[in-house]
Amino acid sequence: MHHFRYNGSNLSCESVDLADVARLYGTPTYVYSAATMADNYTRLKNGLAGLDTQICYAMKANSNIALLRHFANLGAGFDLVSGGEIQRVLAAGADIKSSVFAGVGKTEAEIKLALENGIFSFHVESEPEIARINHVAGKLGVKAPIAIRINPDVDAKTHAKITTGKSENKFGIPFKYAAAAYAAAAKYPNIHIKGVQMHIGSQLTSLAPFVEAVTKVAPFAAELKEKYGIDYFSIGGGIGIIYQDALASGSPEWWSSKPEAERPLTPEAYGAALSPLLAPLGLKIVMEPGRYMVGNAGVLLTRVEYLKRGEGRNFLVVDAAMNDLARPAMYDSYHEIVPLRRDTGRPAFLADIVGPICESGDCFAKQRQLQEVGEGEYLAFLSGGAYGFSMASRYNTRNLAAEVLVHGGNFDLINARETFAQQIANEQIPAFLK
Ligand code: LLP
Repeated sequence: MHHFRYNGSNLSCESVDLADVARLYGTPTYVYSAATMADNYTRLKNGLAGLDTQICYAMKANSNIALLRHFANLGAGFDLVSGGEIQRVLAAGADIKSSVFAGVGKTEAEIKLALENGIFSFHVESEPEIARINHVAGKLGVKAPIAIRINPDVDAKTHAKITTGKSENKFGIPFKYAAAAYAAAAKYPNIHIKGVQMHIGSQLTSLAPFVEAVTKVAPFAAELKEKYGIDYFSIGGGIGIIYQDALASGSPEWWSSKPEAERPLTPEAYGAALSPLLAPLGLKIVMEPGRYMVGNAGVLLTRVEYLKRGEGRNFLVVDAAMNDLARPAMYDSYHEIVPLRRDTGRPAFLADIVGPICESGDCFAKQRQLQEVGEGEYLAFLSGGAYGFSMASRYNTRNLAAEVLVHGGNFDLINARETFAQQIANEQIPAFLK
């Protein structure tokens, strides 16, 4: 469920008319719903009610500091993957004491920053990393809390580029070597073994892989509790969201019209399936959802620049491009595209919806049907809150988009559109060229 719907013929976010945002701040602009994010957090938390849980929002999905502050206010910690992300949490006025630090390539400086700020735990990906964390902790005179990331070799049945739990992926320590890795970790004087971690992939749309992975790793977690006194089990992120019927899925009627078997993954179903497997462990359960928390809480607004009628094909050229929203070009992913002014009187037409970048990959949708629209009209890309702005680039010297946060009937600019001067601020021409 989310808070984007047509209010008469106008697409709104909570009680804000999105065309007002587009007119005031221009396009391309990302717009997020504070209420949708709060609901997503609360539903997941309640889905596992009865267990001691900590949601660590995987901020790589969207790391705007206003969103971080919103989640911190709700009680979330963060799943961090770089020193930059640690600094963002601090800049948001939050702390990292309930946060976990993941990633395969943590540098000494990043480990130091995390320890100095009281990180809850490191999610370790290799034995050399344990040695490095031990070394840095020793220099600081502290014990570093860690969990080892186990690769449970479960097929998440998702896009190849975002599956992580198979043995051929670079992530985690293979299950069969996990016991040896823990034994090795226990020998380091500055390491405190605190938990166990797994994450099998992203955009999982069925429960089965989650159930399979938890079932596989839970007995091992119990063994580690016995042996090393661990106190938490992180079950990772990966809960998928709706891309195909994104707009319709904002209404409760859409959900109740679906037979149980066809209903997409919900946080309630996720909690109901996993809670009975996790409860007997008596461990704190850490979750690291990224996409689920913000994906359906954000849209990207764009303006139609041209309708180009090609041979047997229409091209709708919009002012957003693959640098603003990379997912379609990178993963062939689907985003629903809808007009900000719905006019049911207009004919429908088929078009390729493309950006202005000089690459044929800069295409958001091929032969998509939508209401006929023309120059100056606005469209919204739905389900754009996760891995949208956070994966944006400046390709073709395009300024990074603006970001806006809606709260009830109000909206605030939370990231001003980048300027050309900001883009080139660090570039310089060396003396030999002058
Ligand atoms: N934990 C770990 C260790 C991860 O590697 C990830 C995501 C998450 C949690 C959060 O996963 P989520 O709940 O968001 O599925 N750029 C891609 C997604 C890459 C996901 C990377 N890891 C996309 O746009 O689909």
